[in-house]
Amino acid sequence: MPGDKSISHRYALLGAVATGETAICNYAPGADCSSTLRCLGQLGTKISRRKVESETAGTAEEVVIGGFGSLGSFGSLGSLGSGETLDAGNSGSTIRMLSGLLAGQTFRSMITGDESLQRRPMKRIIDPLTRMGATIRARDGNFPPLEIDGAKLHGIEYSLPVASAQVKSCVLLAGLLAEGKTTVSEPVQTRDHTEIALAQFGAEIERGRRTTTVSGGKSLQGQKLVVPGDLSSAAFFLCAALMFPDSDLYLQDVGLNPTRTALLDFLTGMGARIKLLNLGEASGELVGDIHVTGGRLLGGDIDGEMAAALIDEIPVLAVLGTQTQDGLVVRGAEELRVKESDRIATVAENLERMGAKVEVFPDGFAIPGGQMLTGAEIESYGDHRIVMAFAVAALVAKGETRIKNSDAATVSFPSFFEQLERVAER
Ligand code: S3P
Repeated sequence: MPGDKSISHRYALLGAVATGETAICNYAPGADCSSTLRCLGQLGTKISRRKVESETAGTAEEVVIGGFGSLGSFGSLGSLGSGETLDAGNSGSTIRMLSGLLAGQTFRSMITGDESLQRRPMKRIIDPLTRMGATIRARDGNFPPLEIDGAKLHGIEYSLPVASAQVKSCVLLAGLLAEGKTTVSEPVQTRDHTEIALAQFGAEIERGRRTTTVSGGKSLQGQKLVVPGDLSSAAFFLCAALMFPDSDLYLQDVGLNPTRTALLDFLTGMGARIKLLNLGEASGELVGDIHVTGGRLLGGDIDGEMAAALIDEIPVLAVLGTQTQDGLVVRGAEELRVKESDRIATVAENLERMGAKVEVFPDGFAIPGGQMLTGAEIESYGDHRIVMAFAVAALVAKGETRIKNSDAATVSFPSFFEQLERVAER
């Protein structure tokens, strides 16, 4: 599997503000993580790639980041010329997390992204960053482009109104540059890669139950890091395998951080046969192999805390739901409406195009089990997870499926179709 997207963003951002060199092995190959590197490059960060020999993986590539050293300061703006806008592409993680660092600079920056990103809500980061002392202008107070007037920030205590690891991370990164301590509490536990990475880089952090405090003004140390495979990318292959009784699939070196593995618990709860092997650790993150074999699945309900924990996997779980005995019901997942596309609408529209029945709610959907899918033309709306979820649907559908804008898969998984072909051919 490609390197984990969430972890890669965090390592690059922290590497840029740490002292000394940070070398990242297995950096996520997708366009989103390249967007983070591109923005850091625009800010004057020195970034290079080099080949390394590894005992287990043969020749591997490392992304090498030259840290700015003096904590969080992008020099005197590095190479970002006046009037130049940072381009986060399709990446919500890039714009939200990098804004946390931009808020603590001594200069003004502009950051925006593609059409989809310009429709995604940013008030959720503007509010806490404004409370910390930054001034941020946005279209309608909510949408990119963002114009960020950095300032000397001060620590705050912040309760996240929505469960979002990106917002949590944005505030914690700003907290690194702030005077005093910054505490973030979240309504439900979201992925904790930022907290783990902060500890790896030597930040002063305290973790409680759903609460994290970071101390400002402490310098970070550049690190040598290895990014595990992305479980959210593996999800497409796990679900594909589960749709065929004879499947037997082995996925190596996948990230198994407990804040990401709700997918495995949920699938197991429906009757999936999944085994974890060779458990170990990489840079503070749990890693292991996953062995899955096909077989009959019951159905399941996703709600509340579970919806937050499975948010990126719901499109492919919806596809899998059609092939289960009892179907899938998703509630409490309104956040799906503000992802790269409105994923409640795009999942429902495309399942219907394939002849499936779907009942849509404002915060989710109900998908009956035991449905036959028919090949169709899929409107991906340029959303990588819709492309990949419906490529999985196409495997079980009768007839041919054509997916529009299928190259959007490159946002998180450039080799998705090659890999799918490789395992589906057998
Ligand atoms: C991510 C958090 C989630 C997730 C996204 C990656 C992260 O977004 O959907 O793909 O790396 O922190 P939200 O924070 O908006 O829930």
